[in-house]
Amino acid sequence: MTPKRSDPFTAPSTVGDMVPESGSCVLSDLGRSVFDRILVVDDEPAIREVIQEYLSMEGYEVQTAADGIDALEIMRRYEFDVVITDLSMPNLDGFGLMKQALKIQPLTSIIVLSGQGTFENAIEAVHRGAYDFVAKPVRDFKTFKLTINRGLEHKSLLINKQNYQSNLETMVEAQTRELARINRLLKQYADQLESVSLSVISTLLTALEEKDRYTAGHSRRVTHYAVGAARVLALGSHDLWVIQTAGQLHDMGKLMIDLSYVNKPGPLTKEEWEIMKEHPAMADRFLAPLPFLEDVRPIIRHHHERMDGSGYPDGLSGEAVDMKTQVLAVADSYDAMTSRRSYRNPMPHADAMTELRKWIGVYWLDEPVQALDEFLIRDGGPREHVEPTAPFAPPAAPWHPRES
Ligand SMILES: [Fe+2]
Repeated sequence: MTPKRSDPFTAPSTVGDMVPESGSCVLSDLGRSVFDRILVVDDEPAIREVIQEYLSMEGYEVQTAADGIDALEIMRRYEFDVVITDLSMPNLDGFGLMKQALKIQPLTSIIVLSGQGTFENAIEAVHRGAYDFVAKPVRDFKTFKLTINRGLEHKSLLINKQNYQSNLETMVEAQTRELARINRLLKQYADQLESVSLSVISTLLTALEEKDRYTAGHSRRVTHYAVGAARVLALGSHDLWVIQTAGQLHDMGKLMIDLSYVNKPGPLTKEEWEIMKEHPAMADRFLAPLPFLEDVRPIIRHHHERMDGSGYPDGLSGEAVDMKTQVLAVADSYDAMTSRRSYRNPMPHADAMTELRKWIGVYWLDEPVQALDEFLIRDGGPREHVEPTAPFAPPAAPWHPRES
């Protein structure tokens, strides 16, 4: 390494003061220059000087190297737009230089300048990544300059393509992130909508139940019993959600029928009962526009169905009354039995369980009844009921299985 020599054709250096001995000048810095940068590699000093002088006068920033090894050393320090190289050189020839130079600066256009201007050499050079091939000695400098300018344009095109791909990837990444963000928001809105819908319906139903001191808290207790029994049966998390939601909404059809039937003290007449029996199907129709309740609606519709076909509204029988429906039906019946009515006292837990067991194999399977019993033993029996504040004179009316 020697101190930099002054060169009339290059801009002043801002990067270090040392250059390789073979270098005839120092490029301005490691970044992009306002000039197009060319590296001329040839082992004949006279040729290097002629080409350097010509190109410098044409406004290019030129560096020279005496062979492939020197050229690579310079290329590791400075970026070039075009490399003009001889083929036959000591230490490292033009083919060897091209191979390694394109690893260091893949976008550089390499122009082979060789006295061995055979067709085979030209083909070989292009195969190894050369942009063009010019025969030496250069006789037509105008054409030579055009070749160099095409090499410069080629590098610009490669840079633009690289920038475009990079921008495209950045844009695609940004849009993918934005889509993911919008999807998350939509999911949140959908979840909130589902939650608000459930909350509104549940609140309306609770308000309806609270109007009648005998049914106050019914849906809340039925949900508690049904989910407890479902846990004993080791049902999965989705089934638990289905049962919980069905428990909260199972009597919402009563919101749509004449409230005087719902809150009527004493047993219903036959006509009133026929209307009352419409409440499961009414709830099913009301909830039909809510797709997220698709799995819940059948349980609500069938919570008064019984395995012997005596239930309503569809008179299902046998296995058509599935386990989740039976869990809710048993919980519903248990709460009806252990709740006070205007016409009867609440049934003690043990009596209610005896009554439920009496209908095993007729209304429901053994499993949901046993599961409820097991849950209630752990849970301490029926939930606390809101006792009526009005004077209460219960007659000795029995619980009817249809009552809930
Ligand atoms: Fe019901």
